[in-house]
Amino acid sequence: MDKNRVIIFDTTLRDGEQSPGASMNLEEKLKIAKVLEDMGVDVIEAGFPIASNGDFEAVNEIAKTVTNATIAGLARATKADIERCAEAIKPAARGRIHTFISTSPLHMKYKLQMEPEKVLAKVVESVSYARNFTDDVEWSAEDGSRTEHDFLCRCVEAAIKAGARTINIPDTVGYAVPDEYAALIRMLFNRVPNIDQAIISVHCHNDLGLAVANSLAAVQAGARQVECTINGLGERAGNAAMEEIVMALRTRADHIPYTTGIKTEHITKASRLVSTVTGFVVQPNKAIVGANAFAHESGIHQDGMLKNAQTYEIMTPESVGLTRSTLVMGKHSGRAAFKSKLKELGYELGENAIEDAFVRFKDLADRKKDVFDEDIVALVDDEVLRSNDRIRFVSLEVVCGSKHRPPRATLELEVDGETKQCESTGDGPVDATFNCIKELVPHNARLQLYQVHAVTQGTDAQAEVTVRLEEDGKTVNGQGADTDTLVASARAYVTALNKLLVKREKTAPQALSA
Ligand code: KIV
Ligand code: ZN
Repeated sequence: MDKNRVIIFDTTLRDGEQSPGASMNLEEKLKIAKVLEDMGVDVIEAGFPIASNGDFEAVNEIAKTVTNATIAGLARATKADIERCAEAIKPAARGRIHTFISTSPLHMKYKLQMEPEKVLAKVVESVSYARNFTDDVEWSAEDGSRTEHDFLCRCVEAAIKAGARTINIPDTVGYAVPDEYAALIRMLFNRVPNIDQAIISVHCHNDLGLAVANSLAAVQAGARQVECTINGLGERAGNAAMEEIVMALRTRADHIPYTTGIKTEHITKASRLVSTVTGFVVQPNKAIVGANAFAHESGIHQDGMLKNAQTYEIMTPESVGLTRSTLVMGKHSGRAAFKSKLKELGYELGENAIEDAFVRFKDLADRKKDVFDEDIVALVDDEVLRSNDRIRFVSLEVVCGSKHRPPRATLELEVDGETKQCESTGDGPVDATFNCIKELVPHNARLQLYQVHAVTQGTDAQAEVTVRLEEDGKTVNGQGADTDTLVASARAYVTALNKLLVKREKTAPQALSA
């Protein structure tokens, strides 16, 4: 491989999903994995197979479906973890076992309660064991950036000798600063005798806002794999944002001359999908994918842009896949036009799903004058992911206002094929609507997040609502879109509830023993 080529290892589905509230179901993970594959990601870390049956299933299904990227699963330094991981990645065209253990004094003493020599023995044991299942083994020194150099060198050398092809040096707690982290990578290149037999990888957390800067400094010091996530999703302050790393390398190739295989035009699509699925809104001023990243408001900037876009634009919106909202269709558009629009937007749907989406599109076009690409995406995502739902939204009527009468909602749902209706009041129209749902489908889940955002501009814009529910430590996110915010809210709640039902079934004792 070209010596300046950087391998992009995406861990949105593993480290990203570890951030509280960001849990995703199988369908959503498969959808994200497909988008990552299409954008040219080299390695997709699809999950931590021993963590739960859901994680195992996700890694396994992604391994069956994705053919153009290596599929990695995470495993601690135990035989049980490694075996479960090996089983999950088995169907992959290219599968990787990523095994890790902590190496810093703090982690060894308090977390592992193990002596360094015991940890070193575990490194050798785990990597050698993993090599029985695949040639592609990655070893990570958890809390690597706070590890004593002599000990880190010994571990890295031993891991390579035991068969690890990739050595990852995480900045697990986001403590490093760029010149120090680059010096650590250089130190390994200078001191580990067999370092040329492995790819050096970096994995940076963003606690001090330095994850991307640290990753780029490490690349300049010789690292050739970067672990990152879409939108910087991840534990605490998140991981290094893939879109920022890739665009920095592309835009500043004059100064940091390293390449990736990422088709950057796919970035916006991936960012929106991850944000929708997790309910983690991207801040408007976020680099590359924030709503304002390419907006020029001030008169001076606009004037400069009109004269020459390069005055204020260091990369084009098109280079990250941001196209001006296009007016797609109106209420006179037919099935054929709708089908071809779906294809253009990257959807491959069966006839029934197309028909359901078309009915909703027609309904939307009756209520909304201009239908944009974003509207179609919101509508189809809302409809298509729901095909196997046990609870389905049918209709909603709400009476509310400033007079002193409690808001009242009348809701109709289909529950396991049976239509049920209920009327309820609440502290506000949303509360009344959610109370109806609780009456029709009794449950104890707690509402953790209720969030509304407009898909496009204007008062007739669709509202996209995210609802996060929590039950017994399990969280699920549901989205719903409609021009009526309350209908979107009901749809989002119902979606979350459906996901919770699936989660409950999957963790039921009989499912565990299956
Ligand atoms: O942050 C970290 O150290 C990790 C490892 C498991 C790679 O996520
Ligand atoms: Zn991490």
